[in-house]
Amino acid sequence: SQPLRLGIAGLGTVGVGVVRILRQQAALLTARTGAKLTISAVSARSKGRDRGVSLSGYAWEDDPVVLAKRDDVDVYVELMGGEDGPAKASVEAAIAAGKHVVTANKAMLALHGQALAEAAEATGVALRYEAAVAGGIPVIKSLMEGLAGNEITRVMGVMNGSCNYILTRMESSGKTYQDIFAEADGLGYLEADPQLDVGGIDAAHKLAILSSIAFGTRVDFDGIQLEGIERVSIDDIRAAADMGYKIKLLGVTEKTGRGLEQRMQPCLVPDTSPLGQLEGGTNMVVIEGDAVGQIVLRGAGAGEGPTASAVLADICDIARGVRGPVFGQPASTLETSTRASSQRP
Ligand code: HSE
Repeated sequence: SQPLRLGIAGLGTVGVGVVRILRQQAALLTARTGAKLTISAVSARSKGRDRGVSLSGYAWEDDPVVLAKRDDVDVYVELMGGEDGPAKASVEAAIAAGKHVVTANKAMLALHGQALAEAAEATGVALRYEAAVAGGIPVIKSLMEGLAGNEITRVMGVMNGSCNYILTRMESSGKTYQDIFAEADGLGYLEADPQLDVGGIDAAHKLAILSSIAFGTRVDFDGIQLEGIERVSIDDIRAAADMGYKIKLLGVTEKTGRGLEQRMQPCLVPDTSPLGQLEGGTNMVVIEGDAVGQIVLRGAGAGEGPTASAVLADICDIARGVRGPVFGQPASTLETSTRASSQRP
């Protein structure tokens, strides 16, 4: 069979993880997909850096846009991140050149998902992004495929591991938000711009994507009622614990009689509940469907292995011939949803 040739842009934690799996599991991946998965070319900011994985045999491109359009690339794998800039420019170039795209870029999809989906569907290429939401947890595929027979009634969960780490560490150590923020930053647990994590923005990007798939609505990041964890004090956490609760940065999206309601904010959850028990950098997504009832997905929301696992799932799908609409139904049929008013009942 024909090989499937990849161009990978971005060789940070996730990109290196993807290269490693492709090298180490080549036989398994071919057995599962029927295709030989090869890397034609890679791109990253610094060429010389030792990443602990061999890049020999791959062409190097300084410019991801050039990489995305190469003749020997069938699938462009965008792992640079950033809502605009080279990530978006290169994904657009790839789609225009008829290449399939796999990305982990939640910010780009939350802000430009509709336009990118329209472009991909018009060109007939796949645009897949399992790694963009909840790292290694196959939440996109669960919603789009496993639960395709359900009307989804609600999706909620903890979608930012860094915030969950900070909140659970405050609780276990009794230290202040400022102390634990510094600790998490020192351990490298926070995004380069930590405000994306602690401001709830990263989690809200993920929630906006899930809303679109769950409810057939256009991605509406601006419609999310958003509050981060910066104002959660150690006193709040102690008071919650006294009453048998934990504080979690919880995302909830549901269609109510008043419209689509999307919230990402610190919430009290019973400490004996699955969400209350969620420790450290873990993610949990709870999905409710009219036929299936409630299902709970839990796992690592970040890190090399888990995120690369999700990227590989998309690459394997493309190798098997999966195309399909980007948000589960054609982009032209996604509704512009009425937003529920921001007044809380
Ligand atoms: N900063 C993110 C998190 C990384 O902690 O969940 C994964 O998207």
